[in-house]
Amino acid sequence: MVDQKATNVHWHDGEVSTEQRSELLGQKGATLWFTGLSGSGKSTVMVALEHALYQQGRLVYRLDGDNIRLGINKNLGFSAQDRTENIRRIGEVAKLFVDTGVIVLSGFISPYRADRDTVRALHESNGMKFIEVFVDVPLDVAESRDPKGLYKKARAGEIKNFTGIDDPYEAPSDPEIVLPSHELSLEAEVELLLSALREHNIIT
Ligand code: ADX
Repeated sequence: MVDQKATNVHWHDGEVSTEQRSELLGQKGATLWFTGLSGSGKSTVMVALEHALYQQGRLVYRLDGDNIRLGINKNLGFSAQDRTENIRRIGEVAKLFVDTGVIVLSGFISPYRADRDTVRALHESNGMKFIEVFVDVPLDVAESRDPKGLYKKARAGEIKNFTGIDDPYEAPSDPEIVLPSHELSLEAEVELLLSALREHNIIT
């Protein structure tokens, strides 16, 4: 929990509501939160889903770990404290997008259950949908893919605190969706997600 540092600040309401923005866009915002090991396939499936949703006329935006760490979160590393702050900021950014009416696809390792639960609570306490997607592949699968060569470096001791090697990953206990990306084609993953989005009334 981050303490409120600034004093004498107050929320200022506007004259355009979340509902009015949703009406303008013809959709309701929601966050799909993809969590899983590095190399589990979060970014790949998010890119494909983003494209599929766009083709259906949905306004969708991807928040991707590496991209965000090159911008708004460039001052954060991979200590437990920095990972928590990484997820906290992204949770707040996702909430802003949802308030705008956008469907957010957020992909971060987000290794700590408590941090993900905090983002869920932030959404749900504001009446916003939060769908947790566990991209569930065994470590040896992620490691054999090693798209960025980082597992190899971590095994060689060239990267410290690498998730799954010498840093923890806490799997979700009750995610809305489980995606074993090593057992499904990319098309099947997208289909599964689209039907889940329909079930959760995020798309029709
Ligand atoms: S998180 O743990 O804070 O959620 P995030 O998803 O933003 O991580 O960033 C993970 C990405 O950073 C990985 O996919 C990988 O490319 C890169 N990375 C660099 N160092 C590490 C590390 N020590 N642990 C995990 N990922 C790392």
